[in-house]
Amino acid sequence: MKFFIDSANLEEIRQVAEMGLVDGVTTNPSLLAKEGKGFKTTIQEICAMIDGPVSAEVVTSDNAEQMLKEAHIVAGWHPNVVVKIPFGPEGMKAVKKLTAEGIKTNVTVLFTVTQALIAAKAGATFLSNFVGRVDDLSGEGMVAVRDTVNMVHEYEFASEVLVASVRSPQHIVESVRCGAQIATIPFKILAQMYKHPLTTSGIEKFTEDWNKSGLNFD
Ligand code: G3P
Repeated sequence: MKFFIDSANLEEIRQVAEMGLVDGVTTNPSLLAKEGKGFKTTIQEICAMIDGPVSAEVVTSDNAEQMLKEAHIVAGWHPNVVVKIPFGPEGMKAVKKLTAEGIKTNVTVLFTVTQALIAAKAGATFLSNFVGRVDDLSGEGMVAVRDTVNMVHEYEFASEVLVASVRSPQHIVESVRCGAQIATIPFKILAQMYKHPLTTSGIEKFTEDWNKSGLNFD
């Protein structure tokens, strides 16, 4: 499974770049607004730190022509930029054209397998299925992910399923069970994935026993 980091925070991205486990980055207008730095500068700085797909989202959602203009601007910032397109009829027109031009796309705010099917048919590179926002409403966000992974395999689409709106390590466990190709993970959740109380206590015990033993590497 590929790990993307869901962040526009340059310090977080620097830290995950050092971990060496992160394969790409997803941003969105809310994450960028939170950081308050320039859109282009932020995306270019991210591209300099992570050698992989970096999603930059268009802000128009109801006009394919305008979406294409914005898409061409962000795609011109760095070869690794993937254009993130909000799902909808205009967005899918834009995805079809961008795919024909060889520009990679990440279709976002997907909640159902039927939406994902349309996006896959339009040629989306990544299908961003949001899970946490469904769980927040007492739904089961992973159901659509499971259906979408099966749909992509069954019909042999080239699109990859990207689990987004991740709220806990449990979402990663379920993503693995579904065979999702990618999860985009907030920094805090990635840090939690390293932790287990038995790992901590196990390491402490090994250290304690070793220190008492008088043994060394000679
Ligand atoms: O990048 C899109 C997605 O991951 C948003 O997550 O937490 O705002 O639902 P969230």
